[in-house]
Amino acid sequence: MDLRNRHFVKEIDFTPEEWMGLVDLTGELKAARREGREQRLLDGRTIALIFEKTSTRTRCAFEVAAYHLGAQLTYLDPHGSQLGHKESIKDTARVLGRLYDGIEFRGTYHADCETLAEHAGVPVYNGLTDLWHPTQSLCDIVTMTEHTSKPADAISYAFVGDARYNMGNSLLVAGAMSGMDVRIVAPRMLWPMPDVIAHAERIAATTGARVTITEDLDAGVDGVDFVHTDVWVSMGESEQVWGERIGLLSPYQVTTDVLRSTGNPDVRFMHCLPSFHDLNTAVGQRIFKDFGITEMEVTDEVFESAASIVFDQSENRMHTVKAVLAATLGGAGGAG
Ligand code: CP
Ligand code: NVA
Repeated sequence: MDLRNRHFVKEIDFTPEEWMGLVDLTGELKAARREGREQRLLDGRTIALIFEKTSTRTRCAFEVAAYHLGAQLTYLDPHGSQLGHKESIKDTARVLGRLYDGIEFRGTYHADCETLAEHAGVPVYNGLTDLWHPTQSLCDIVTMTEHTSKPADAISYAFVGDARYNMGNSLLVAGAMSGMDVRIVAPRMLWPMPDVIAHAERIAATTGARVTITEDLDAGVDGVDFVHTDVWVSMGESEQVWGERIGLLSPYQVTTDVLRSTGNPDVRFMHCLPSFHDLNTAVGQRIFKDFGITEMEVTDEVFESAASIVFDQSENRMHTVKAVLAATLGGAGGAG
């Protein structure tokens, strides 16, 4: 696998073989660090991190992965550069491309990430846009393979919730590329766009993946190994949509009964995080005040249960970002 100088903007830019190569490379790099034989594959490299939206995991995953591999970073926060008010994406791409070996971008519009990639002349990494969250989906595939003895093509999972945004799209195509049994479980209004579904089905036809899009919660989660969800309202969306979204998605809240209805006593719960599973956040408090609900996409009982692997998942953000950086900037076909 040679991914040197490639962008990592969306899953479907990769062949299933390249994608699974990144899954394998993550495992190799994780083992190399654990066993004290990690190499500074990015020594002397520089990476710019652009965040138009806030982040805990993605920023920290890039920073720690880069430090471990020897790269230096510049963090550009939502207000700390000319981007977005005084300078266009295209011009910013051409400036940063002269200074840095790679650019991470978390932004409102996926089209901006593509523009950056088109003009930067160096690899661009999508750290989340409205349409795709590929570093998260790669992490999720790795995490699922780690938490089962099944081969990837025997793994089944359901994404339950707001499926028309970044996580729904990314988990749909990532599972198709990984040959898995993928169920998207959501009210029809919140299904991925038809072109995303069609793309996933085309990929599935080549990888042997099974793709199901359904409104039926019981049928959707039947027999699955993993249940995923995400917040009901994403960063950058209007406050006005909360009422409608709560109405649409309350029946799809991940509860102990939902896990039980999988019929799989070993089912595991996953969430990209952050999550509104209690009232210990400002947003959770505000929604409680306005709508009287104490938990949203997942109950606290499930989040804190033995079935929940959300913090293993969270740690894997760093290991997978490391694989993406090493493969595209370090020329790492393998680790060690
Ligand atoms: N999952 C994820 O992308 O988290 P952050 O928003 O904290 O980066
Ligand atoms: N769908 C969420 C994912 C956060 C990691 C958002 O875009 O806010």
